Amino acid sequence: MTKKTNSKKEESEKAGFSAGFLWGVAHSSHQVEGNNRNNDWWRWERQGGSKDSSGRACDYWNLYAQDNQLAADLGCNALRLSLEWSRIEPKEGEFSAEALEHYRKILLDLKEKKLQRAVTLWHWTLPLWLVEKYGGWHQKETVDLFVRFGEKVIEKLGSEIEFFITLNEPNVVLGLGYLRGIFPPGKKSIFQFWRARKNMLCAHQKLYDKIKKLRSDLPTGITQYCANWDYSGKSLLLKFLFQKAEDWYNWSFQKKIAPRQDFIGFNYYRTIGVGLRFPWKDLKKDGLSNDLGWGFYPEGLKKIALRARKNFSLPTYVFENGLADSQDRLRGRFLKEHLAALAEANRQGGDVRGYFHWSLMDNFEWAHGYWPKFGLVEVDFETMERRPRPSFQVYQTIIRKNQS
Ligand code: BGC
Repeated sequence: MTKKTNSKKEESEKAGFSAGFLWGVAHSSHQVEGNNRNNDWWRWERQGGSKDSSGRACDYWNLYAQDNQLAADLGCNALRLSLEWSRIEPKEGEFSAEALEHYRKILLDLKEKKLQRAVTLWHWTLPLWLVEKYGGWHQKETVDLFVRFGEKVIEKLGSEIEFFITLNEPNVVLGLGYLRGIFPPGKKSIFQFWRARKNMLCAHQKLYDKIKKLRSDLPTGITQYCANWDYSGKSLLLKFLFQKAEDWYNWSFQKKIAPRQDFIGFNYYRTIGVGLRFPWKDLKKDGLSNDLGWGFYPEGLKKIALRARKNFSLPTYVFENGLADSQDRLRGRFLKEHLAALAEANRQGGDVRGYFHWSLMDNFEWAHGYWPKFGLVEVDFETMERRPRPSFQVYQTIIRKNQS
């Protein structure tokens, strides 16, 4: 290595981001593609489970080239997207060559734009045929169906994928879909919760082994929703118990699959002040919060990144971090301070190698429908016009500075 590149490397390490750091944006199939009519969420929306119907969403299915270009214009070198199971396997055991070909085009377009492809296999939607015949994750048949779907994807598209995320936030779907009943399949049962969790754990591990046979070099893992819990009381016992509970919620899934993952993925949105008094409230730096009422608290991102390092000796990726901010009044500051917190975590021994902002553009926000605006780019859902918000430039500048 020459002196010049050496000092460049030292500089970026001092800044907290190693050379080759992944600067990305993220989204998921059902939230952006549009017309995913053949899955459980489409049905759930029609049953009143969401304020809106996902409908055409952002029409990413057709407009992917211009949206990928926006990510490239940002200066990103990576993009996280998910594949829609109900498109690839519209009927049990029948795989659509057309859908696979279309995804290949999207992946090739990303490659052409020099964006590494972080692909999620399951970002919350299940094909209708599966839920109608078998029920969903709480039924053991889902395990082998998922593994077969994953194998097919790796066989057909594996050469066009750089990072593979089998499951997005199992803890969120287990909580909202199996305990609170506000996500499909709408259950409120601890028994079904445990069965679904066991099946998800099993599905990831089985698929991981198959992937390692098909493409042993493909970094594979999951990404988990990590809530930072903050207990500021004096009781050492409570401090210990809250720490244990937080650890269980955030990391127990990944601990169980530990030998079968090549990285630690997590998504960070908020920090909750916990204690014996209810309701628990978000911590808010300078009293700031976003349109959904989630507190602005960058320090939490640092804590989670350091905790990831402490628990696992694996490279870490932040696969989601963002906020609902229709006026874009906070997003610029959010980016600056969260990325500064991440850099600080790395200086203190963390091993974060990539950051994916949620989201590139406004999209379908599940049960809330369309009103929360998470995009660096505003979408007019009537005309499908895209308009970068001022924070787009903020992220662009941060990326540019760290890459130069
Ligand atoms: C999910 C995304 C969602 C985001 C914002 C994450 O938990 O993975 O699909 O849009 O949070 O709520």
